[in-house]
Amino acid sequence: MELRDAIASRRSVRSFDDRPVPDELIRSVVSAASFAPSALNEQPWYFRVVRNELREKLLRVMAQNTSYLEEFMRVLGHDATPAALQWYSNLGGAPVIVACTMPKEDDDFLALNKHISIGAAVQNILLAATDAGLGSCNVTFSFWVKDEICALLGIPENRTLAGLVVLGYPGDEQPPVPPHDHDVISFMD
Ligand SMILES: Cc1cc2nc3c(=O)[nH]c(=O)nc-3n(C[C@H](O)[C@H](O)[C@H](O)COP(=O)(O)O)c2cc1C
Repeated sequence: MELRDAIASRRSVRSFDDRPVPDELIRSVVSAASFAPSALNEQPWYFRVVRNELREKLLRVMAQNTSYLEEFMRVLGHDATPAALQWYSNLGGAPVIVACTMPKEDDDFLALNKHISIGAAVQNILLAATDAGLGSCNVTFSFWVKDEICALLGIPENRTLAGLVVLGYPGDEQPPVPPHDHDVISFMD
Protein backbone atom coordinates (compact mmCIF):
# COMPACT_ATOMS: atom_id res chain seq x y z
CA MET A 1 0.00 0.00 0.00
CA GLU A 2 1.25 3.50 -0.79
CA LEU A 3 2.08 5.50 2.36
CA ARG A 4 -0.45 8.19 1.50
CA ASP A 5 -3.18 5.54 1.13
CA ALA A 6 -2.28 4.03 4.51
CA ILE A 7 -2.41 7.47 6.11
CA ALA A 8 -5.78 8.26 4.54
CA SER A 9 -7.41 4.87 5.14
CA ARG A 10 -6.28 4.33 8.75
CA ARG A 11 -9.21 4.48 11.08
CA SER A 12 -9.95 3.41 14.62
CA VAL A 13 -11.47 -0.07 14.55
CA ARG A 14 -13.55 -1.11 17.54
CA SER A 15 -14.89 -4.48 16.42
CA PHE A 16 -12.77 -7.39 15.31
CA ASP A 17 -13.33 -10.92 14.06
CA ASP A 18 -11.73 -13.84 15.86
CA ARG A 19 -9.10 -14.72 13.23
CA PRO A 20 -5.74 -15.04 15.00
CA VAL A 21 -2.96 -12.71 13.88
CA PRO A 22 0.29 -14.59 13.04
CA ASP A 23 3.24 -13.85 15.34
CA GLU A 24 5.44 -12.68 12.47
CA LEU A 25 2.81 -10.19 11.33
CA ILE A 26 2.47 -8.80 14.88
CA ARG A 27 6.24 -8.52 15.13
CA SER A 28 6.49 -6.72 11.81
CA VAL A 29 3.68 -4.28 12.68
CA VAL A 30 4.84 -3.48 16.23
CA SER A 31 8.50 -3.19 15.28
CA ALA A 32 7.56 -0.33 12.91
CA ALA A 33 7.50 1.71 16.14
CA SER A 34 11.25 1.41 16.49
CA PHE A 35 11.82 3.58 13.38
CA ALA A 36 10.02 6.57 14.91
CA PRO A 37 11.73 9.81 15.85
CA SER A 38 12.17 10.51 19.55
CA ALA A 39 13.38 13.43 21.64
CA LEU A 40 17.16 13.12 22.14
CA ASN A 41 16.82 9.82 20.27
CA GLU A 42 15.83 8.39 23.63
CA GLN A 43 13.54 5.75 22.09
CA PRO A 44 11.49 5.66 25.30
CA TRP A 45 9.10 2.94 24.07
CA TYR A 46 8.86 -0.73 24.92
CA PHE A 47 5.92 -2.91 23.96
CA ARG A 48 4.34 -5.95 25.54
CA VAL A 49 2.13 -7.97 23.22
CA VAL A 50 -0.71 -9.51 25.19
CA ARG A 51 -2.78 -12.44 23.87
CA ASN A 52 -4.78 -15.47 24.93
CA GLU A 53 -5.07 -16.09 28.70
CA LEU A 54 -3.29 -12.89 29.74
CA ARG A 55 -5.52 -10.94 27.35
CA GLU A 56 -8.57 -12.32 29.19
CA LYS A 57 -7.09 -11.16 32.49
CA LEU A 58 -6.28 -7.75 31.02
CA LEU A 59 -9.84 -7.38 29.75
CA ARG A 60 -11.14 -8.11 33.24
CA VAL A 61 -8.96 -5.27 34.52
CA MET A 62 -10.07 -2.98 31.68
CA ALA A 63 -13.72 -3.71 32.52
CA GLN A 64 -13.10 -2.06 35.90
CA ASN A 65 -12.80 1.21 33.96
CA THR A 66 -16.57 1.14 33.76
CA SER A 67 -16.82 1.64 37.52
CA TYR A 68 -15.64 5.19 36.85
CA LEU A 69 -18.97 5.75 35.14
CA GLU A 70 -19.51 9.32 36.27
CA GLU A 71 -16.14 10.41 34.97
CA PHE A 72 -16.86 8.56 31.71
CA MET A 73 -20.04 10.59 31.30
CA ARG A 74 -18.22 13.81 32.00
CA VAL A 75 -15.65 13.03 29.29
CA LEU A 76 -17.77 11.20 26.73
CA GLY A 77 -21.29 12.52 27.30
CA HIS A 78 -24.32 10.38 28.18
CA ASP A 79 -25.00 9.29 24.58
CA ALA A 80 -21.63 7.62 24.16
CA THR A 81 -21.58 5.91 27.53
CA PRO A 82 -23.42 2.61 26.69
CA ALA A 83 -21.10 1.95 23.73
CA ALA A 84 -18.10 2.82 25.91
CA LEU A 85 -19.21 0.37 28.60
CA GLN A 86 -19.42 -2.39 25.99
CA TRP A 87 -16.08 -1.45 24.40
CA TYR A 88 -14.09 -1.34 27.63
CA SER A 89 -15.30 -4.74 28.71
CA ASN A 90 -13.99 -6.54 25.60
CA LEU A 91 -12.04 -4.03 23.45
CA GLY A 92 -14.05 -5.11 20.43
CA GLY A 93 -12.85 -8.71 20.72
CA ALA A 94 -9.37 -7.68 19.52
CA PRO A 95 -7.15 -10.77 19.75
CA VAL A 96 -3.98 -8.70 20.31
CA ILE A 97 -3.49 -5.96 22.88
CA VAL A 98 -0.19 -4.10 22.78
CA ALA A 99 0.78 -2.34 26.01
CA CYS A 100 2.99 0.67 25.24
CA THR A 101 5.30 1.50 28.10
CA MET A 102 7.65 4.41 28.78
CA PRO A 103 10.00 5.47 31.59
CA LYS A 104 8.33 7.30 34.49
CA GLU A 105 9.12 10.99 34.37
CA ASP A 106 8.34 13.67 36.99
CA ASP A 107 9.55 16.65 34.96
CA ASP A 108 6.68 18.01 32.84
CA PHE A 109 8.85 19.02 29.88
CA LEU A 110 10.69 15.70 29.72
CA ALA A 111 7.40 13.81 30.17
CA LEU A 112 5.84 15.76 27.30
CA ASN A 113 8.78 14.84 25.06
CA LYS A 114 8.41 11.19 25.97
CA HIS A 115 4.68 11.24 25.25
CA ILE A 116 5.17 12.90 21.87
CA SER A 117 7.84 10.32 21.02
CA ILE A 118 5.49 7.50 22.01
CA GLY A 119 2.77 9.09 19.86
CA ALA A 120 5.05 8.99 16.83
CA ALA A 121 5.90 5.34 17.53
CA VAL A 122 2.24 4.41 17.97
CA GLN A 123 1.31 6.12 14.70
CA ASN A 124 3.94 3.94 12.96
CA ILE A 125 2.20 0.88 14.44
CA LEU A 126 -1.24 2.09 13.32
CA LEU A 127 -0.02 2.75 9.77
CA ALA A 128 1.87 -0.55 9.56
CA ALA A 129 -1.29 -2.31 10.78
CA THR A 130 -3.35 -0.58 8.10
CA ASP A 131 -0.80 -1.59 5.47
CA ALA A 132 -1.03 -5.21 6.69
CA GLY A 133 -4.84 -5.26 6.48
CA LEU A 134 -5.24 -5.17 10.26
CA GLY A 135 -7.58 -2.95 12.23
CA SER A 136 -6.21 -1.00 15.16
CA CYS A 137 -7.23 1.43 17.84
CA ASN A 138 -5.18 3.56 20.18
CA VAL A 139 -6.59 3.37 23.73
CA THR A 140 -5.53 5.70 26.51
CA PHE A 141 -8.70 5.53 28.58
CA SER A 142 -7.00 2.78 30.52
CA PHE A 143 -5.55 5.42 32.83
CA TRP A 144 -8.04 4.76 35.62
CA VAL A 145 -6.70 1.21 35.92
CA LYS A 146 -3.12 1.93 34.91
CA ASP A 147 -1.55 0.66 38.14
CA GLU A 148 -3.52 -2.58 37.93
CA ILE A 149 -2.42 -3.10 34.30
CA CYS A 150 1.23 -2.42 35.19
CA ALA A 151 1.01 -4.97 38.01
CA LEU A 152 -0.68 -7.58 35.80
CA LEU A 153 1.90 -7.22 33.02
CA GLY A 154 4.88 -7.00 35.37
CA ILE A 155 5.93 -3.61 34.05
CA PRO A 156 9.08 -2.58 35.99
CA GLU A 157 8.83 0.06 38.75
CA ASN A 158 10.76 2.65 36.73
CA ARG A 159 8.34 2.45 33.78
CA THR A 160 4.66 3.14 33.29
CA LEU A 161 1.87 2.48 30.81
CA ALA A 162 1.56 5.09 28.05
CA GLY A 163 -1.46 3.44 26.45
CA LEU A 164 -2.72 0.37 24.67
CA VAL A 165 -3.03 -0.42 20.98
CA VAL A 166 -5.50 -3.12 20.02
CA LEU A 167 -4.93 -5.09 16.82
CA GLY A 168 -6.85 -7.69 14.85
CA TYR A 169 -8.73 -8.32 11.64
CA PRO A 170 -11.66 -5.88 11.41
CA GLY A 171 -15.19 -7.23 11.80
CA ASP A 172 -17.57 -6.99 8.81
CA GLU A 173 -19.61 -4.07 10.12
CA GLN A 174 -17.70 -0.85 10.72
CA PRO A 175 -19.40 2.47 11.49
CA PRO A 176 -18.57 5.47 9.31
CA VAL A 177 -15.26 7.17 10.01
CA PRO A 178 -15.78 10.28 12.12
CA PRO A 179 -15.22 13.53 10.23
CA HIS A 180 -11.71 14.91 10.01
CA ASP A 181 -11.18 18.60 9.29
CA HIS A 182 -8.50 18.78 6.57
CA ASP A 183 -8.45 22.56 6.49
CA VAL A 184 -5.66 22.84 9.02
CA ILE A 185 -2.92 24.77 7.23
CA SER A 186 -2.16 28.38 6.50
CA PHE A 187 1.00 29.47 4.73
CA MET A 188 2.88 32.43 6.19
CA ASP A 189 5.73 34.20 4.40
C1 LIG B 1 -3.96 9.69 22.09
C2 LIG B 1 -5.19 8.93 21.66
C3 LIG B 1 -5.96 8.29 22.60
C4 LIG B 1 -7.11 7.60 22.22
N1 LIG B 1 -7.81 6.91 23.18
C5 LIG B 1 -8.89 6.22 22.82
C6 LIG B 1 -9.58 5.45 23.79
O1 LIG B 1 -9.21 5.40 24.94
N2 LIG B 1 -10.67 4.78 23.38
C7 LIG B 1 -11.09 4.79 22.09
O2 LIG B 1 -12.07 4.13 21.80
N3 LIG B 1 -10.45 5.49 21.13
C8 LIG B 1 -9.36 6.19 21.47
N4 LIG B 1 -8.65 6.89 20.51
C9 LIG B 1 -9.12 6.88 19.12
C10 LIG B 1 -9.84 8.17 18.80
O3 LIG B 1 -11.12 8.18 19.42
C11 LIG B 1 -9.96 8.29 17.26
O4 LIG B 1 -8.67 8.40 16.73
C12 LIG B 1 -10.77 9.51 16.82
O5 LIG B 1 -12.11 9.40 17.24
C13 LIG B 1 -10.75 9.68 15.30
O6 LIG B 1 -11.24 8.53 14.65
P1 LIG B 1 -10.33 7.72 13.62
O7 LIG B 1 -9.11 7.23 14.36
O8 LIG B 1 -11.21 6.58 13.15
O9 LIG B 1 -9.96 8.64 12.51
C14 LIG B 1 -7.51 7.58 20.86
C15 LIG B 1 -6.72 8.24 19.90
C16 LIG B 1 -5.58 8.90 20.30
C17 LIG B 1 -4.72 9.57 19.26
